[in-house]
Amino acid sequence: MQGTQGNELEVLLSAEEIAGRVGMMGKRITLDYENKPLILIGILKGSFMFLADLIRQIDLPISIDFMALSSYGSSTKSSGVVRIIKDLDYSLEGHHVLVVEDIVDTGLTLNYIYGHIKSRGALSVKICSLLDKPGRRQVAVPLHYKGFEIPDEFVVGYGLDVNEKYRNLPDVCRLVRNTDE
Ligand code: IMP
Repeated sequence: MQGTQGNELEVLLSAEEIAGRVGMMGKRITLDYENKPLILIGILKGSFMFLADLIRQIDLPISIDFMALSSYGSSTKSSGVVRIIKDLDYSLEGHHVLVVEDIVDTGLTLNYIYGHIKSRGALSVKICSLLDKPGRRQVAVPLHYKGFEIPDEFVVGYGLDVNEKYRNLPDVCRLVRNTDE
C-alpha cells in the first residue's frame, strides 16, 4: 500500500482481524467485571478508535474518562519524557479502572500512568492495550488484556499516528519508509 507524501505503508493487521480480536476482548472484560463499577480510561490520542470499538463490545454499565500525555512529537523513537496534558475529570474512588492504551513500546508511558492512577483510590487498576511491542520494553508493565503482539516496527492506523497522520486508516499498517523524519 502506498501512503501519501512518499510514506510507504503495508497492512500488518486488517480491520477484520482487529474487529474479531476486539470482540473477544470485550467479551472477556464483560465476564470479568460483571457487577463491578467500571471506568475505562482512554489514553489520548492513540487509543480513541480502540476505546470506541471496545466499549461497544462490553455489555456492562460502564463510564469512560480520558488522559492525554506528551507524545513522540515528530520522531518515531521514544524520548522517555512523559508529561500530563489532560488529567482525569472524575474521581476513581469506589470504581474498578481499566486503562486503555493503543500500544506498549518501551513501557515508560504506561509505567508512569499506572503509578499515577493507582494513587487515585480505585478499587483495582488493570491495563488493556491493543498492541504490544515486547522487543523494545525498558520497564516491565502488567498487560492484563492484550490484543496483538507485533514485531519491533513502527505502525500507524486505527488511531495510531506519525506526525498526526494516518490515524483514520481502518487497518494497522507498518511504516516502511518515513520521509517526514
Ligand atoms: P512507550 O512509552 O515507549 O511504551 O510508548 C507508548 C506510546 O508511544 C504509545 O501510546 C504511542 O503513542 C507511541 N508509540 C509507540 N510505538 C508506536 C508505533 O509503532 N506507532 C505509533 N505510535 C507509537
